Amino acid sequence: MLVAAHVLSCLLHLKLIECSHMLPLYRDIVRQFIKGTDGFSGAFAECLCGSPNLYQVCLFQEGGGKPWNSVNFICAHDGFSLADLVSYNHKHNLANGEDNNDGEIHNNSWNCGQEGEFADISVKKLRKRQMRNFFLCLMVSQGVPMIYMGDEYGHTKGGNNNTYCHDNYVIFYTLLMSGTSIKPSC
Ligand SMILES: *[C@@H]1O[C@H](CO)[C@@H](O)[C@H](O)[C@H]1NC(C)=O
Ligand SMILES: *[C@@H]1O[C@H](CO)[C@@H](O)[C@H](O)[C@H]1NC(C)=O
Repeated sequence: MLVAAHVLSCLLHLKLIECSHMLPLYRDIVRQFIKGTDGFSGAFAECLCGSPNLYQVCLFQEGGGKPWNSVNFICAHDGFSLADLVSYNHKHNLANGEDNNDGEIHNNSWNCGQEGEFADISVKKLRKRQMRNFFLCLMVSQGVPMIYMGDEYGHTKGGNNNTYCHDNYVIFYTLLMSGTSIKPSC
């Protein structure tokens, strides 16, 4: 298991993998399926199986790609954190200074009923369950799982999905929070 945004370069450096990809397609399909969008079950099944539809025909490797050619991820430095993925329908990027025009608008997130961090207990419970669903999916998918640092305790970036320009609490790993977890609280 690898916990890093720069996993691909590490893997290449170690020469573990010569044809591996971080797969935004995996991210987007898994997000759509788990938030409940119709029509994604077949594509989701392919994701669980290491995306053979993409990798068995891997151009760079004779004999086809293997499951480890797929570096699976649901969240990365680029985009919503896991907690924000289940707390925001819309990006909230005003602090980036571009009138909220930057960042993706793929509609791949679901706030579970209320927008933002402060929500009813029932909404928060559903969010935790959704986060566990995402983690489970990542762990059982064939391939190399990549976990975005902070997702294990539910780090929030306040709904900002394009935080490259920040050097503050938005992207800092919160030591005080790292003792918490996304396990059920009751
Ligand atoms: C950016 O925000 C939108 C909501 O406006 C969300 O659907 C999308 O998944 C986010 N992008 C990433 C990469 O997290
Ligand atoms: C966003 O996705 C939801 C399903 O999760 C759908 O009901 C809604 O119509 C979509 N919104 C847009 C603008 O496509």
